[in-house]
Amino acid sequence: MKKLVLTGAAGRLGSYLREPLSKMCDELVTTDIAEAPATLLANETYVQADIADFDAVFNMLEGADMVVHFGAIVDEAPFETLLGPNFIGSYNIWESARRHGLRRVVYASSIHAVGMHKKTDFIGIDAPHRPDTFYGLAKCFSEDLGSMYWDKCGLESVCMRILSCAQVTNPRAVGTWLSYDDLVQLVTRAIDTPVTGFSIVYGVSDNDRAPVDNAKARHLGYRPKDNAEEHAKEIFAQYGPLDPHDTNNACHGGPFAGIELGNSAMSALNLNKDDTGKA
Ligand SMILES: NC(=O)c1ccc[n+]([C@@H]2O[C@H](COP(=O)([O-])OP(=O)(O)OC[C@H]3O[C@@H](n4cnc5c(N)ncnc54)[C@H](O)[C@@H]3O)[C@@H](O)[C@H]2O)c1
Repeated sequence: MKKLVLTGAAGRLGSYLREPLSKMCDELVTTDIAEAPATLLANETYVQADIADFDAVFNMLEGADMVVHFGAIVDEAPFETLLGPNFIGSYNIWESARRHGLRRVVYASSIHAVGMHKKTDFIGIDAPHRPDTFYGLAKCFSEDLGSMYWDKCGLESVCMRILSCAQVTNPRAVGTWLSYDDLVQLVTRAIDTPVTGFSIVYGVSDNDRAPVDNAKARHLGYRPKDNAEEHAKEIFAQYGPLDPHDTNNACHGGPFAGIELGNSAMSALNLNKDDTGKA
């Protein structure tokens, strides 16, 4: 592959993807609204830009084969706050990809696109959209962009509904954990699978208690290797019994399902600040 573009490159997951992605292309263009990382890889060019700015996105995607789209505000927030980065930003990516004739958009979607489904429902990739927040709604909108641009324009998309790519620090994460190694495998498969059309896949490790079903995404060849089960005993003991009637516990979206629209849900996730994604 000649040119690959990675958005959200200064973020937690983006930072982890720069090196493996740089090995898959001649030229890696990384971008974020934040400042450039201290050091760049040999074949990496960094562009500081707002993805809500169409011209900036359009210029960056010129000559690219694929774009890996991870840039977004990553929390629930008022609709007006998310509108630019999470809705318009996604439109800018898909529309620029179409105009420049890119082959594929690889997109960091989220479990929050289907977060109001009950955890006791072992949902597959064809579960209907059931967003838990404006944040989840933006993921639904972006997945639908992917579907529409495939049906109407032949532009492929792989939408990876990531569950939680962070350390296992709470009972939900025993099922939802995605390790960084499995994230890299997932993104790599989303790029190197020859034909994907419009595909959805859950981004989750091989956890005994993974609450979602990737059976219909086998064509991507994603075979996760890590398992959070070794933490189950300790974490369940630490938290004690959970109320099954509490939306936070009952729905796939966890705290996003329980939070009021427009309010931050990330604080409830008990994430470590310098998270390494290792279990
Ligand atoms: N971490 C997870 O567990 C998880 C779960 C589901 C989905 N995701 C998705 O994965 C992607 C990356 O998440 P992360 O955990 O690395 O979050 P992060 O906040 O560390 O990274 C997101 C990056 O997007 C950038 N960004 C925000 N607004 C922007 C704008 N207007 N223009 C350009 N860049 C902008 C931020 O500066 C940040 O560097 C996001 O799309 C997120 O929704 C993550």
